[in-house]
Amino acid sequence: MNPEPLHRWLTQPRPCAQRFPYDTVIDAYQHHGKQFLPAEWTTLLRATRNRLPELPAPTGNLAAFLDVALDKPDGRYDYRTYLALPLLPIPDPDERPQPAERLLARRDHLHVGLLTDLISFELRALDNTGAPLPQLRPDPTVVTKRLRHAVRSAAPALRRLSFDIPSTDNPVTTARQVAAAATLDLHPRDRLTVRATMLPVSTVHDEWMFIRVLQTFELTFGLLAVNLTAVAAAVHARRLPAAGTRLSFAAALLRDIAPLWSLLATMQPEAFHTFRAHTDGASAIQSRAYKLIESLCRTPNPQRLNSAAYLSVPDVHARIRSGQPTIDDALDAIRADHRALAECPILADGMQQFTAAVHQWRRTHYRLAVRMLGTHRTGTGATLGTPYLLHSRDAAVFSDRDPSPVQRRPPMTATTIPPQALTASIGSRNLS
Ligand code: HEM
Repeated sequence: MNPEPLHRWLTQPRPCAQRFPYDTVIDAYQHHGKQFLPAEWTTLLRATRNRLPELPAPTGNLAAFLDVALDKPDGRYDYRTYLALPLLPIPDPDERPQPAERLLARRDHLHVGLLTDLISFELRALDNTGAPLPQLRPDPTVVTKRLRHAVRSAAPALRRLSFDIPSTDNPVTTARQVAAAATLDLHPRDRLTVRATMLPVSTVHDEWMFIRVLQTFELTFGLLAVNLTAVAAAVHARRLPAAGTRLSFAAALLRDIAPLWSLLATMQPEAFHTFRAHTDGASAIQSRAYKLIESLCRTPNPQRLNSAAYLSVPDVHARIRSGQPTIDDALDAIRADHRALAECPILADGMQQFTAAVHQWRRTHYRLAVRMLGTHRTGTGATLGTPYLLHSRDAAVFSDRDPSPVQRRPPMTATTIPPQALTASIGSRNLS
């Protein structure tokens, strides 16, 4: 790896952030792994950061990229920088509200972009055409399975974006066709995003998949957090059917991403343990979006609030302390009005579906974590590991009280969920 393009860019009298040699730098990270990046590169990247104030605006993207790239030498390495989350347009309840369909379409494009990148990477390795991260390549049987699950994970979003998913008997052929079509469709803005968000710590093949799976989960968590904020506001304003419909949509979205677990389950334990040696301090316990989801449903009890669960996300902790509105609180205010609730079974349906989807998510996560770590290894977030997960696995999503005095009906059918929210959901109870 030759840092010459970076040298040249730096020695210009007035370098421009838009011309920064991202490809050269990203290639170097993927060649060495962040943990093993030669000092020469770190020095040049620090010099780049020092020059940022004198560059013509805008320099925001480059500054964010350098923050992510220099996290280890700076001693700021964590879950957000590991996954390059500041570079991903993750929906956020604090941002200006946008129409739900637009947010879903934006998420779908990026979800497909990230998974297509994974598919392309696996195909390059399979075809021996110069894929980076050569350590511990999986055998072709594993890759075939992985490609099948990657396509399944992208399928609901692909359908909403009007892609035809080819029906071939061979997962590798299907994956090739999907990747070819979806890569062409990727917006140029998203191309750089997808590329710049792959800065693995190691050169272990499976780390690529690990990063992409976590990123796609995070993207959807962000959208769920925006939705649940809207649900709380709708309940507060007594727009109960709207709240119920949005909750059903949130449940459908969570079910949609269940195949990601089967995809991740193709990870080779030896590979996981090899790159995990360098990810200490980066744990999904620091996931802001996940904790927003949990705390928007109901305020966590003081014991959980003051444990590693929330102390790892200081921003969410502060929001809760300053009275973040929750769906549960808004429901409390109207619970006394039995008639209002009785007239809105759609809300009870939504709550039931969302609760079931969250419990399914937590159980699957726990199972996979035990498969990879057992019950004695500690977590990278300084917890006891899987015993920490077991403790909260079956905790109530909303308060234990019945959400509605009406008799529960079966889950919503496709006709009662708004068309945009329709998902061809694929159940994934087995990590096969
Ligand atoms: C190999 C796969 C995985 C293993 C072994 C694993 C293991 C763990 C462990 C041990 C913890 C406890 C905190 C700590 O790190 O000390 C944890 C927390 C967590 N993990 Fe995973 N995890 C895996 C995959 C995932 C994926 C794909 C996601 C999706 C974003 C995820 C999301 C979370 C979240 C949100 C928490 C915090 C839960 C809470 O605080 O209640 N994990 N994980």
